[in-house]
Amino acid sequence: MARLKAAILISGRGSNLQSLIDACASANFPAEIVLVISNNADAFGLTRARQAGLATRVIDHRAFPDRAAFDAALDEALRTSGAELVCLAGFKRLLTADFVALWRDRMINIHPSLLPAFPGLHTHERALAAGCRFAGCTVHFVLAEMDTGPIIAQAAVAIRSDDDAITLAARVLEAEHRIYPMALRLIAEGRVSIEQGKRARITGASAPAATLTNPVVSNDSLAPP
Ligand code: GRF
Repeated sequence: MARLKAAILISGRGSNLQSLIDACASANFPAEIVLVISNNADAFGLTRARQAGLATRVIDHRAFPDRAAFDAALDEALRTSGAELVCLAGFKRLLTADFVALWRDRMINIHPSLLPAFPGLHTHERALAAGCRFAGCTVHFVLAEMDTGPIIAQAAVAIRSDDDAITLAARVLEAEHRIYPMALRLIAEGRVSIEQGKRARITGASAPAATLTNPVVSNDSLAPP
């Protein structure tokens, strides 16, 4: 069966790109990467892509008069590559509503929080400051408003009392590297549909039975005095 053609957009270190490269390296994975685009020529992710033998393009936003012109160049490169799905993986440019509309239901993003909590930047600092007991990450379809759109997959990560933003980010990143390839696989297998433009439904998957609590306390300390 033909593999889904995915293009990955990056701006930086590309660890999520790497997780997608690694997944696509399996012969039985249902997607392949046809192009990696970076707006930043120095992005380490470009090195990862080249090492994997993938086609790369640098489209530097500074070379364009405005966002619309930059997005038109992105669109042109994506179409030329034959991409059927766009995966944003640490792509640090806001996309115009027109571009998002062109790729509606065909563009996904990974975000380091349990959306709709903490859209935007500094998600881990904000989760810690709010005293959250869980952090996590989300893969979602992209709508024009930043970090919104039908959710495909999430992973919850328990926050420890001694966490700082660095330790928490590291554990969330591990979870990102699991759910992004999983979401790509689900889409490529045709198992993701979007209901009324709002909710994504996955066929042939189930929710875990367990309910997680944080903190975990021993039975003794819960006993009545
Ligand atoms: C990740 O935390 C991702 O969730 C966010 O940007 C970061 C990119 O990291 N959108 P990397 O470039 O994939 O290592």
